[in-house]
Amino acid sequence: MVRFSAASALLLAAGAAADTWPFATYDTGPWTPPQMKVHKSGTTEPGYIFVGPRGNQPNGTAALIYDEEGHLVYQGPTQVTANVKVQKVFNEDTLTFWAGDMTSWGYGFGTVHILDDTYREMYTVKLPDDPATGRFFATPDGNSRPSYIDLHESHITDRNTLLVTAYNTTQYDLTPVRGAPDGWMLDALFYEIDIATNEIVFAWSALEHIAELPLEESFQAIAPGFGTRNQPWDAYHINSVELMSDGYILSLRHYWSGLYVFNNGTIAWRLSGAHDDGDFEIDDAGLYQWQHDIRIFDETDEGFIMTLFNNVDTPSDPKTGPTTGLKFQVDLLNRKVTTLQVITNTHDEVFSVSQGSLQTLNRETGHIFMGYGSVATVKEFDGDGDEVFTASFGDPGLVASYRGYKCQWKATPFWPPAMAVVPTGPGVAEIYMSWNGATEYDNWAIYAVDGPEATTSRFVKSVKRAGYETRADVGSLRTRFMQVVARKGDIPLGTSPIVEF
Ligand SMILES: *[C@@H]1O[C@H](CO)[C@@H](O)[C@H](O)[C@H]1NC(C)=O
Ligand SMILES: *[C@@H]1O[C@H](CO)[C@@H](O)[C@H](O)[C@H]1NC(C)=O
Ligand SMILES: *[C@@H]1O[C@H](CO)[C@@H](O)[C@H](O)[C@H]1NC(C)=O
Repeated sequence: MVRFSAASALLLAAGAAADTWPFATYDTGPWTPPQMKVHKSGTTEPGYIFVGPRGNQPNGTAALIYDEEGHLVYQGPTQVTANVKVQKVFNEDTLTFWAGDMTSWGYGFGTVHILDDTYREMYTVKLPDDPATGRFFATPDGNSRPSYIDLHESHITDRNTLLVTAYNTTQYDLTPVRGAPDGWMLDALFYEIDIATNEIVFAWSALEHIAELPLEESFQAIAPGFGTRNQPWDAYHINSVELMSDGYILSLRHYWSGLYVFNNGTIAWRLSGAHDDGDFEIDDAGLYQWQHDIRIFDETDEGFIMTLFNNVDTPSDPKTGPTTGLKFQVDLLNRKVTTLQVITNTHDEVFSVSQGSLQTLNRETGHIFMGYGSVATVKEFDGDGDEVFTASFGDPGLVASYRGYKCQWKATPFWPPAMAVVPTGPGVAEIYMSWNGATEYDNWAIYAVDGPEATTSRFVKSVKRAGYETRADVGSLRTRFMQVVARKGDIPLGTSPIVEF
């Protein structure tokens, strides 16, 4: 078991106390998501909450969408996911997420799924070994995988490409960092992949730029037992990538740095969260460490706005200080970084030792949404940095969601609504109705039908939607067959199968 290590940057404490977090159950289907405990204290931006929890049990390990009241909206198949969110592909809103194996080395091997607004899979983006070009990945366990996309990034660009990270195991001389001359480490790679064709349009590896990224500058020490083939040292820990005008900006967690890589692969500069490090001078308020999710706005030749999730903490130093969100003005001409905002709720501090995200919800209002990674909590802050919403969905340390987002989403699933009928007396029954993933219906119409192949049906009543699953009492039934229709006003959107009870 790995507990204190490079790899544990993304691990949960294994074998910890029993789970006490409540899970929801439903009469209409097998969904068991963690209950979302919400507290709203101000005006929030519209949207649903998107998380991909994983932890000490399979229940609720899935792509999950909740509304702001904490009702489940969608539970995907049971699988480890990351980066569950809405992104535009060819101008259409899609649900995108990574799914795969989260390994014990702090990264993953998987694929990125892109679903349309009926939850049909439009694209499955993969990064396989490729004998044609000689591109092969090496893994700590020596086993190959069908796709090597790592969980840390699945960012869609406005040119309909997908930016992803990957980790490769490689033998390397680790003597500069007091390791073995024939030690093993993880290279940090990223790829830009054309979504329509799955072709790689750009590839980059940190080790190919070792001169500008000396190993001694990693803040991640080689923990005892690491630096071997089975436990490679994670020198860089790449965890976000996005486009810049002439290249890409990456986040290297273990260098406490953002890195600008030109389109030709050359490193333009490094913006470090530590004093006297990198190519910029940063003010005291802006010092950051073990960060995630670097995002850029308003880029010009003179500078840009940059945001990031500043963990501050790491598994081996879990209480250095509360995790914050940071917003900077970066001056490229004078190579100066000025802190514009430090976002935290001093009355409810969170210590996130790994993972996490910071999403700018609205440039005008300044609302920001943060997912706290190793702590199963999300928060929304207003433009003054005051918390307006907080929600939790698991015991700290037992359940994590790599990132947490708030997104607007309209979906009408290709599968039908579900119903269950529980007879409670002669001609009397309780009816339960749900439609996993559906956002648009607001009421249910309940029908008594004359048989399993109903030709005639009698409208019994309609009831307002009540969260994920709606319950209704019906009486005076002269049939044993029921059917329900999910509607928006009086427009039918989906019809359940006929249920005999
Ligand atoms: C987890 O799911 C199983 C069925 O897969 C169920 O029996 C169990 O009660 C669930 N646990 C919780 C805490 O809901
Ligand atoms: C991964 O590392 C191995 C050496 O361990 C090397 O042969 C291989 O080309 C590397 N793959 C990539 C994609 O960089
Ligand atoms: C890469 O591109 C940058 C910016 O356009 C340029 O300054 C640099 O010289 C290029 N490097 C190489 C090796 O071509």
